[in-house]
Amino acid sequence: MLDLLHVDCYEALPHILSLAKIRPVALISDPPYGINYRSTHSSAPNNWFQRYTDFDPIVGDDEPFDPTCWLDLAFPWIVLWGANHYMSQMPSTKCILTWDKLAGKTPCDSSDTELAYTNLDKPCRTFTHLWRGLIRAGEANGSRSHKLHGNQKPVELMMWVLRMCNLPRGTLIVDPFAGSGPIGQAAIRYGFDYLGIEKDAKHFTTLQSVINKELKQPHLTDPYETYQNAIAADRKPAAKEPAEPKTAIQQTLF
Ligand SMILES: C[S@@+](CC[C@H](N)C(=O)[O-])C[C@H]1O[C@@H](n2cnc3c(N)ncnc32)[C@H](O)[C@@H]1O
Repeated sequence: MLDLLHVDCYEALPHILSLAKIRPVALISDPPYGINYRSTHSSAPNNWFQRYTDFDPIVGDDEPFDPTCWLDLAFPWIVLWGANHYMSQMPSTKCILTWDKLAGKTPCDSSDTELAYTNLDKPCRTFTHLWRGLIRAGEANGSRSHKLHGNQKPVELMMWVLRMCNLPRGTLIVDPFAGSGPIGQAAIRYGFDYLGIEKDAKHFTTLQSVINKELKQPHLTDPYETYQNAIAADRKPAAKEPAEPKTAIQQTLF
C-alpha cells in the first residue's frame, strides 16, 4: 500500500487509528518545529549560489508543535525529528537519534546537529551525513539534485532511521508531515508500505513527483531483504583505524 493524502493530518487521525487496528504501524515524521523558519537557499538549480528566499513559510511553523495526539497513539515505533525545538514537551526516553550534519567540517550559521525523539528501546545513536547549507552529501548533492523543501532532509538519514527501528515485514510507515517525501523514498527502498500526508499544495505536488520517481526505480533483490542485510551491516564493527605512529618516548619505552 502506498497512499499520499493532501489533507490536514489531524483530520486523518481516525483513518490512521483504523489502520493501526489491523496491522503494525510506525509513526516516523518531521513535523513543523514552531520556529518560524525561512529558508534562504534557492531551489533553482542554476542559481544555487544566490542567497534568496523562494520557499514559502512552513505550514504550522508559526506555533509551537504539540506532540500529544501523536504520542497518545502509542505506536510501538515513534520517531519525530526536530525534537530539539520541542524537547520540553516530550516524555523522557532512552533513545535520542542525532544527525551530525557537520561531519567534521567547519561550523556555519545553521545547526551542527538535529535530534529526533524516539520511543525505541535502544541506546542513543548518531548518523553522520554532511548537510551544511547547500553543501550536501549523497543524493541531494547540488550536482545531482536541487533543494526541494525549506526543511528538506536526506533520504540516507531516513533509511538509517528505518534501520534503527528494525521493523517487521509488512509495517505501514505513517508520515503525517511528509514534505518532499524522504521518509516515503526510504520506505519504498526497504519494501514498507507508506502513508504520507502533506497539507501544503506545492509540497504535495513535490511529494507526488518524488514518490512516483522512486516507484519507477527497479529493485534487483527483495527490498525487505536489502533492509535486513543493511541492518546486519550496521552492526558489523568498523574497520580498524591504522595505528598512530609511535612517539619518540613510546619507541624508547615499548
Ligand atoms: C519540517 S517539514 C518536513 C520536511 C521533510 N522532512 C522534507 O525533507 O521535505 C513539515 C511539513 O509538514 C507540513 N505540515 C504542517 N502542518 C501540517 C498538517 N497539519 N497536516 C499535514 N501537513 C502539515 C508542512 O507543509 C511541511 O511540508
